[in-house]
Amino acid sequence: MEPRPRDLGTRSEILVPYEADPSGAGPGGPVVRVRDLRMRYGDADPVLDGVSLDVAEGQVVSLIGPSGSGKSTVLRAISGLHPPDGGTVDLFVEPREMGFLFQDDALLPWRTARQNVALGLRLRGSARTEAEREADRWLARLGLAGLGPRYPRQLSGGQRKRVALAQVLALRPKLLLMDEPFASLDAIVRHHVTQDLLNWVESERIAVLLVTHDLEEAQALSDVVCLLSRGPRARISNRYAVEIPRPRNLIDARGHPAFAPLLQRIWHDLSDEVDQLGGAI
Ligand SMILES: Nc1ncnc2c1ncn2[C@@H]1O[C@H](COP(=O)(O)OP(=O)(O)OP(=O)(O)O)[C@@H](O)[C@H]1O
Ligand SMILES: [Mg+2]
Repeated sequence: MEPRPRDLGTRSEILVPYEADPSGAGPGGPVVRVRDLRMRYGDADPVLDGVSLDVAEGQVVSLIGPSGSGKSTVLRAISGLHPPDGGTVDLFVEPREMGFLFQDDALLPWRTARQNVALGLRLRGSARTEAEREADRWLARLGLAGLGPRYPRQLSGGQRKRVALAQVLALRPKLLLMDEPFASLDAIVRHHVTQDLLNWVESERIAVLLVTHDLEEAQALSDVVCLLSRGPRARISNRYAVEIPRPRNLIDARGHPAFAPLLQRIWHDLSDEVDQLGGAI
């Protein structure tokens, strides 16, 4: 039986039933289902009009599109930060099972790395010693063993990003929303942090919705890439299935025979959207 979505107080008509992969090998049940989403700011034309997408358990979906088309707005609607003006957002997990990783890490400068990671666990009711022990385990898993007592200013950009990642993953999210989380990192650090994240997402079958401008990153990480058309009234103009087996190694994924042809296709379609916009990606 299909799980029932949580009622977020939006129109909750379900328009398209989820079809599970009959082999059981693909993604699991639905985690978030967006249908005909309309979002506007003030009296302006709606930014989004008719956006529909799904993310299932164990599935990574990325959202790409021209700058200003409304990618972050889609995440805002799903996170509940900004209620939809039309359409539905059905969540099949508790709001507390959602994790967010945004471009700017949100570490508290006056707390150590360990305390930053432990904070969310403490807010969920864990005792201090247990929360800090769990924080240390996460820091170690992300290659930061021994750095728990340092303050964010005493860490490099890549180390801070790993602390932010530990902070989110320690809460064991079932749905992870990410908005350009690694954009500020250099190529090597970015590669390692992204591979760490991918390993964990695959082993825990976390549902991920990733906003990125990096088409190669989108493809290497995702099962499905969704292209948002230029705004206003943006909608998903194309979806691409990435047929590369998991578990994935980011370097091998880029060398897979399906990678380059799909990249070229997505690049072409995105360029069309941007050309019509007369400007920026
Ligand atoms: N709080 C707001 N008030 C008014 N307009 C807004 C607000 N936030 C975003 N917008 C507008 O909504 C549109 C979509 O913004 P959004 O941040 O979702 O785009 P984006 O696709 O994430 O862009 P980028 O790739 O540059 O991050 C833009 O035109 C933006 O100017
Ligand atoms: Mg954005």
